Amino acid sequence: MRRRNIWALLMYVIVMMIIVVESSLHRVGGGRYNWNPDVNFSDWANQQRFYSGDWLFFGFDRTHHNILQVNKSSYEQCIDTDFIFNVTRGGRDVFQLLQPKPYYFICGKGYCLKGMKLAVNVLPQPPPSTPTVPITPTSTATALIIPSSALIAVAAAILTAFAFKPSYVY
Ligand SMILES: *[C@@H]1O[C@H](CO)[C@@H](O)[C@H](O)[C@H]1NC(C)=O
Ligand SMILES: *[C@@H]1O[C@H](CO)[C@@H](O)[C@H](O)[C@H]1NC(C)=O
Ligand SMILES: *[C@@H]1O[C@H](CO)[C@@H](O)[C@H](O)[C@H]1NC(C)=O
Repeated sequence: MRRRNIWALLMYVIVMMIIVVESSLHRVGGGRYNWNPDVNFSDWANQQRFYSGDWLFFGFDRTHHNILQVNKSSYEQCIDTDFIFNVTRGGRDVFQLLQPKPYYFICGKGYCLKGMKLAVNVLPQPPPSTPTVPITPTSTATALIIPSSALIAVAAAILTAFAFKPSYVY
C-alpha cells in the first residue's frame, strides 16, 4: 500500500517535471487557424509570456497567407522582401523561439498592412528553483510551483517508508 503510494507520487513528479522541461506551444492568435486578418496580434502577444525554447504554432489558409520572419524595420514598414526566414510550409506550421530576443513575423501578399504582423519578446528560461507568477493561466509556468511541493511529499514518503523503521513496543 505504502510502496504503491510512493510509485504514484514518483510518477506524478516525473510527469510534472516533463511538463516543466517541455517548452510551451503558443497558438498564434489563440485558436487553431488564427493567423488571419481578424485577429489583433499585438493584443494577443501582450497576454502571453514567451520563453526561449517555446514554439509558435501558425494555423492558416496557405492559399491566401504566409509567414515570414523579418527584422524590426521590415515589421514596422511591412516589407516582405529580403525576409530572414520563410516559416510557411503547409498551413499548420511551427517556429521555435530559440533566443531570448524580439522576433518579428509578417504575412506577405499585402496582409501585413491589414494587421497580420506579430512581434514577440522572448524572455530567457526562468531557473526552475525560482518560479515566476504567470500572467496567464495557460502558461506552463504554473506547473513550476507544483514539483517542489511534490518533491517534498516524495521525500517525506521515502523517509517514512525506508528510513523510519517502526519498532513495535508491547
Ligand atoms: C532589415 O531588413 C531589410 C531588408 O533585408 C534591410 O534593408 C534593413 O537594413 C534591415 N534592417 C536592420 C535594422 O537590420
Ligand atoms: C515560402 O515557402 C513556401 C513553401 O515552401 C513557398 O510556397 C513560398 O513561395 C515561399 N514564400 C516566399 C515568399 O518565398
Ligand atoms: C490592437 O488593439 C490595440 C488596443 O488594444 C490598438 O491600439 C491597435 O491599434 C490594434 N492593432 C490593430 C492592428 O488593429
